[in-house]
Amino acid sequence: MQTIINLYKEKFQKKEKISVVTCYDASFAKIISETDMDTILVGDSLGMVVQGHNSTMPVTLEEMIYHTKAVKRGAPNKFIICDLPFLSYQISAQQGVSAGGLAIKETGCDAVKLEGASEIALQTIRQLTEMGVPVMGHLGLTPQSYQVLGGYKVQGKDEKTAGKILQDAIALEKAGAFSIVLEMLPESLGEKITNSISIPTIGIGAGRHTSGQVLVINDLLGIAADFKPKFLKRFADLHSITKQALSTYHREVKEGTFPGEENIFK
Ligand code: KIV
Repeated sequence: MQTIINLYKEKFQKKEKISVVTCYDASFAKIISETDMDTILVGDSLGMVVQGHNSTMPVTLEEMIYHTKAVKRGAPNKFIICDLPFLSYQISAQQGVSAGGLAIKETGCDAVKLEGASEIALQTIRQLTEMGVPVMGHLGLTPQSYQVLGGYKVQGKDEKTAGKILQDAIALEKAGAFSIVLEMLPESLGEKITNSISIPTIGIGAGRHTSGQVLVINDLLGIAADFKPKFLKRFADLHSITKQALSTYHREVKEGTFPGEENIFK
């Protein structure tokens, strides 16, 4: 039976790029399940793109579990990673182990992800891995700490912070993480980290040389008209398509042309 760790190892060894997309519900998960996408991340970006908060911090473990279950129902054939939200693993390794274990147990996901490389985070990764729970790390712009990082900005621009992020990546690998998300780093640092560790790096705004890429599904589909960070490529313009469809529906209801002959029961 294939596992997420084996899949990532295989692709890493073959130097094949790994594709990851976020997802929060069963409808989009079903569409993803019909593609060749390698992995789904149920990100705590949920808080911003689905719940309308201005950060990921209000998201709870219960909400992550609820959405991960929905994604699992929509895409039972895909590897799914569940993000551990703010305050579910920062207090102690015991808390993190229990949050990670619960996420796996309740949702049937394949791995969990947590941010940073604090001593508690490293201990949590060690213990979860020992228990059999695969853990993905997350460095660079870690959105749960955006306030102390000075906002949603590129990280590791000077030698000192770049060195710290590199050391953190090495520590995450040593602790047992099977992969690391690198968010908003200069391309050269994304490349250096990728070449310095032997687990795959998954980049978002970390340049072209990471082992794979992750994007938020709403962003890549162009659902929000006003969100255009430099690292984002919009692969569709669902904002315009959705708006157009809603306006046409509204007009046809007003005109009485919907429902038509073909939409009624005789
Ligand atoms: O929460 C999220 O969607 C993430 C990705 C952007 C990596 O952490």
